[in-house]
Amino acid sequence: MTKPDSSPGLRTDHYYLTTPIYYVNARPHLGHAYSTIVCDAIARRKRALGIETWFLTGTDEHGQKIERSAKLAGKTPLEFADKISGEFRALWDRLGLSYDDFIRTTEPRHVRGAQHLFATLRDKGYIYKSTYTGQYCVSDEAWVDVPPGAPCPDCGRITETVSEENYFFKLSAFERKLLDFYEANPGFMQPESTRKEVISFVRGGLKDLSVSRTSFSWGIPVPGDEKHVIYVWLDALANYITAIGYGSDDVQDQKKFEKFWPADIHLIGKEISRFHCVYWPAFLMAAGIPTPKSVRANGWLLFDDTKMSKSLGNIVRAETIDEVLGADALRYFLLREIPFGQDGSFTFDALVRRYNGDLANGYGNLVSRVVNMMHKFFFGVVPDSGAPTETETALRAAAERTITEFPVAFDEFNFSEALKILWTLVAETDGYLTANAPWKKPADRSDADHETLQARVLANAAESIRIITALVYPILPASAAKVWQQLGLGEIQDAAKKTFLTEIKWGGLKPGTKFGEPAPLFPRAEKDAIERMENLEKQNNASAVDAAAGKQAEPMHAPAATSVDPTSAPDATPGEHTATPTTVAPHHTGTPVETATVHPVPPEIASARLATGATDAPAGTPLTPETHATPAAEEEKQFITIDDFTKVELRVAQILVAERIPKADKLLRLEVDLGYEKRQILAGIAQYYEPEKLIGRKIVIVANLAPRKMRGLESNGMLLAASLPPDGSPVLASFLEDVPLGARLK
Ligand code: ME8
Ligand code: MG
Repeated sequence: MTKPDSSPGLRTDHYYLTTPIYYVNARPHLGHAYSTIVCDAIARRKRALGIETWFLTGTDEHGQKIERSAKLAGKTPLEFADKISGEFRALWDRLGLSYDDFIRTTEPRHVRGAQHLFATLRDKGYIYKSTYTGQYCVSDEAWVDVPPGAPCPDCGRITETVSEENYFFKLSAFERKLLDFYEANPGFMQPESTRKEVISFVRGGLKDLSVSRTSFSWGIPVPGDEKHVIYVWLDALANYITAIGYGSDDVQDQKKFEKFWPADIHLIGKEISRFHCVYWPAFLMAAGIPTPKSVRANGWLLFDDTKMSKSLGNIVRAETIDEVLGADALRYFLLREIPFGQDGSFTFDALVRRYNGDLANGYGNLVSRVVNMMHKFFFGVVPDSGAPTETETALRAAAERTITEFPVAFDEFNFSEALKILWTLVAETDGYLTANAPWKKPADRSDADHETLQARVLANAAESIRIITALVYPILPASAAKVWQQLGLGEIQDAAKKTFLTEIKWGGLKPGTKFGEPAPLFPRAEKDAIERMENLEKQNNASAVDAAAGKQAEPMHAPAATSVDPTSAPDATPGEHTATPTTVAPHHTGTPVETATVHPVPPEIASARLATGATDAPAGTPLTPETHATPAAEEEKQFITIDDFTKVELRVAQILVAERIPKADKLLRLEVDLGYEKRQILAGIAQYYEPEKLIGRKIVIVANLAPRKMRGLESNGMLLAASLPPDGSPVLASFLEDVPLGARLK
């Protein structure tokens, strides 16, 4: 055992690093690839330094969010999880990522370990039972401290009021302990912004944390009390220990756990710092398990100025970049362009600029010049370099500086800086070649002198390339492997196993080494590269929308908001009102609706909208069969004028009271506040919404609908919701921003 240190980059015996385990509610995108690629680069460097490394990734498969996504797709949660988890894994394989283990939280080894952790916490007196009412953000799977109806302070989505008898973790007992722990371990969390945020969160006071749920069942049962499932974050965080054998009786597993725990690095995105820096160490302290050595947060990858995110739909897929420019181009871009820890924008433009500038014209061109000349002038055999002149001494000094400086930057995770340093050597080597011009024999130089110069210059340039290539291998593994072959050095993987990075020093390329055949590394990206990538994304998005209910895919645009008419519920008195659901397309009414940000929804809903005849399908969206079948005349009937639309008075209201109506199992009685008046509305949503969860929510109602009576009660208005296939289950329309009561939608 070496003594633990606070500088995670420096551990030298074993090294255990993890990515977050990704939710399986939607397919992987560049954001997920970013964190996983960073870990891959670190893992490759550690291994090449001879450090026994364990690189874990995986998928987070339980919880309400997944249960709901599966239902939307018409699948069981496990079928759903199998498919998406498989897509994550397939993508990591396609990109050549060198993970050692891929954990799924639905695996028996994890279920057993998570239950063991829960039982340990309970046995130690840190878990107790109590009733709790609070706001829950399903998207973040987090309890949040906001009033009923208010949006989630982290992601801005509407929270739900949840009241349940739950198990609680005594988080409040860890306030002081955590603060002391942060102080004693200054390297525990980085970057500094994350550290500050976490500390101020803990200083603000910690409340006990609900760690079980009863209102849904897709989770790991609480041992001994199976109507509860373990809170998905306790379940998920446990993956870091269950994957390496925690909770197993097997001796091999136990050895593995002892070898690799505590983790050196949990690499995460900054939005999940609280879970990793507050809850996770508290759970571990309570269970008597050592805390991880460090948590490092990457910043957000932005696309169109917003965080790339599956629920916002502004994603780019790694497959597209791999297809057009190759995985190494993506790795280089992500690590070079974005200072690690900060947010950074992704644009195809910047990607292609980096690719052409640094890879095609930079490293790639340098390699190709030297390899080709070696073949042309020396039949591909490295000549004796002879005595160095001043220029070689300078080149060697530059290389040696790089050998010293690159690792310092890399091991502090300043990947961008590390690459900048390395590319200085690329430029110096290029300059060295140009200055010596081995391809050009001046008239006053003898043949013998010229050959001596060529030998010296090409052997030294090739040596410099060898060093660049060894250092860049963790970041550009596929390209480095090709160059290694061309330099006649064999398989770089084999060299990496022999800890070639520990021994790297000037002079490793021996005379007599037979070069491999030249092969293109980074063919220049032409003008159409951007177009090709954009088209691939468009095609993919279109097919995602086309895939309808059978296939989980990315949400592409705002949903249809359809009215939930209480009379469409069988409970209502028949015949009184025969409204066809109104399709409201707020983005296309001609009046901007900045105030009404509609929740993005999965494409299943988009297709529901197409089926109702909406005419705003995005360019390139294939029509659904239903739309094909709609006669043109009928489509025309769907157009209304602005005047028609303004007849409908849509307003923001807040639910004050929600209750069931005796003998009407589909209807809820709501009392809503419009700011200027209160009213009663009957809504056919009882089978989909627990009345308690609705209290405090802000909704949209049709305020000028003629009153009507149902079950002897008067309904004064109608609420708006998206209607989901196949059974028309409603999802209430709501706002991301805070909106005043009574505000009109137009
Ligand atoms: O949060 N920029 O899973 P998730 C940078 N299951 N990184 C991004 C990103 C972006 N735009 N989008 C995603 C969860 N990521 C939980 C984690 S861990 C015990 C449980 C990366 O599918 C980043 O690492 O929402 C982020 O933290 C993670 O994906 C979130 O993935
Ligand atoms: Mg997330």
